[in-house]
Amino acid sequence: MKQIVIEIIENALKELDVSVPENLSTLIETPKDYTNGDFAFACFSLAKELKKSPQQIATDLRELMHNPPEEFEEIQTSGPYINFYLNRKLLAQNLIQEIKDKGNDFGSAEALNKKLVIEFPSPNTNKPLHLGHLRNMAIGESISRIAQANGYEVVRANLNNDRGVHICKSMLAYQRWGEGKTPIDAEEKSDHFVGDFYVKFAEELKKDSKLEEESQEMLKKWEAGDSEIIALWKKMNAWALDGFKQTYKKFGITIDKEYFESQIYKEGKDIILGGLEKGIFQKREDGAIVINLEDEKLGEKVLLRSDGTSIYITQDIYLAKVKFDDFNPDESVYVTGNEQEYHFKVLFSVLDKLGLTDKEKLKHLAYGMVNLPNGRMKSREGTVVDADDLISEIQSLVKKELEARDTLEEKELENRSLKISLSALKYFLLKVDVKRDMVFNPEESISFEGDTGPYCQYSYARASSIMRKAGEKPEVIYPEELEDKEAELILKINEFKKVVADAYRTMNPALVANYAYKLSQVFNEFYHSCSVIDSIYKGLRLELTDSFRQVLKNALNLLGIQVIEVM
Ligand code: ARG
Repeated sequence: MKQIVIEIIENALKELDVSVPENLSTLIETPKDYTNGDFAFACFSLAKELKKSPQQIATDLRELMHNPPEEFEEIQTSGPYINFYLNRKLLAQNLIQEIKDKGNDFGSAEALNKKLVIEFPSPNTNKPLHLGHLRNMAIGESISRIAQANGYEVVRANLNNDRGVHICKSMLAYQRWGEGKTPIDAEEKSDHFVGDFYVKFAEELKKDSKLEEESQEMLKKWEAGDSEIIALWKKMNAWALDGFKQTYKKFGITIDKEYFESQIYKEGKDIILGGLEKGIFQKREDGAIVINLEDEKLGEKVLLRSDGTSIYITQDIYLAKVKFDDFNPDESVYVTGNEQEYHFKVLFSVLDKLGLTDKEKLKHLAYGMVNLPNGRMKSREGTVVDADDLISEIQSLVKKELEARDTLEEKELENRSLKISLSALKYFLLKVDVKRDMVFNPEESISFEGDTGPYCQYSYARASSIMRKAGEKPEVIYPEELEDKEAELILKINEFKKVVADAYRTMNPALVANYAYKLSQVFNEFYHSCSVIDSIYKGLRLELTDSFRQVLKNALNLLGIQVIEVM
């Protein structure tokens, strides 16, 4: 539609003998209030060249616009603005048909022949997932879906940081105090079982500072391939990974490619040594290999320790290359907390200097911190909030709500409450701009009213219920003019494709979440002001209801949220 507006303006400008501004497309705005039209062109920027007031230019241009094409009902001037009004009836007709034809694919672009590798949630295998990982997974999965809707082929990759001194800490504590027990003996989810020993280590360290050194020694033994240590590591890693897998499944994420730090950390060293030979890196007096990034104001960064042991960035340098070798992506995105911003700046710069990957293709999607309201639910570790525990807590809150409304069979209660809980959680985590720190409020997140996932699900279920109760569907008749709320609904639906594109361009699922909320609100207003079932326009209004249902479903799907037919 915008293209048509551009053409109309271009033609008028040509008739006026004015050069067409290069940024014409960006000069066309979408008015906040639809009573000012669906597109608006401001004439200020032409005033200088034409030596006329913007008001006059608007009037002159409007006159040259002759008869608008059928897609537009009206073109009006308002002071220095020219406002374009879409032909809403035609728009409704076209959209209803397109949504019917495309169904779940409505809003999705044609395949682009472009590939995205997106890495998330990339946990460490010494302890279970926490609230930060939930934000990570919600963002990673949502961006993956948004990318797919924009025509990308998407590879979801996960790096398991499964080696290093932090892993040895859990192992050491288990060796000392585990009494050979297993998670089954302890009747505990296996990654939580591993995490308990990480906590135990920290506690014991307070009494015995030698433990720190011992964990370093254990790491050396691990690197040397000591069979006893390797066996212990394999056993505990499997417990951690198995627990993660259950959480991924419950949360609804899938992973296409698993990477393991233990399998790649050595190769990183070779690349660093190669870079040293080429003079890209320097050897410091103490023997550490470093890169000087003063030019980029990133200071000096160690890439390999003096004792030759690799550090966090060492394996990442190799992994970046492996991803390009494995998939040859057009874009490679990393999802992590924003405390790693410096790390990724350095990483991308090093990769660029080594000529390993194109800097343009790399992106760090850094999200802000997420906390619970003060004083709420601390986990075993005392500081971070456990992911599984939080999901369970939300689910029991939702169950209570559902039980107060209705008697449901055990299985249905379980099923429905989980879907609502995940929608509450994902929506709340995604509605906030990715970059911002946030407070996750469990009670607020599950409310059926307000800016929440359950409110959107509820709106969907309401539309479903209307469709179920509708009975026969009469022929669609269009009134002389659509009611305001009908028009508003159709205009909102019409925005969906732009939202999908913008959300990927800005890598921000919040745009989709905010859209889903607005769309639900507009639908609820439509439903309250236009009766559906007892109206001569029943046919049309059912079609609008059904279109809304489909588009909201598609929007929520981009957030990883499943709809339910009955709340
Ligand atoms: N495991 C790391 C952490 O928990 C995140 C890894 C992010 N990915 C990467 N390629 N460095 O902090």
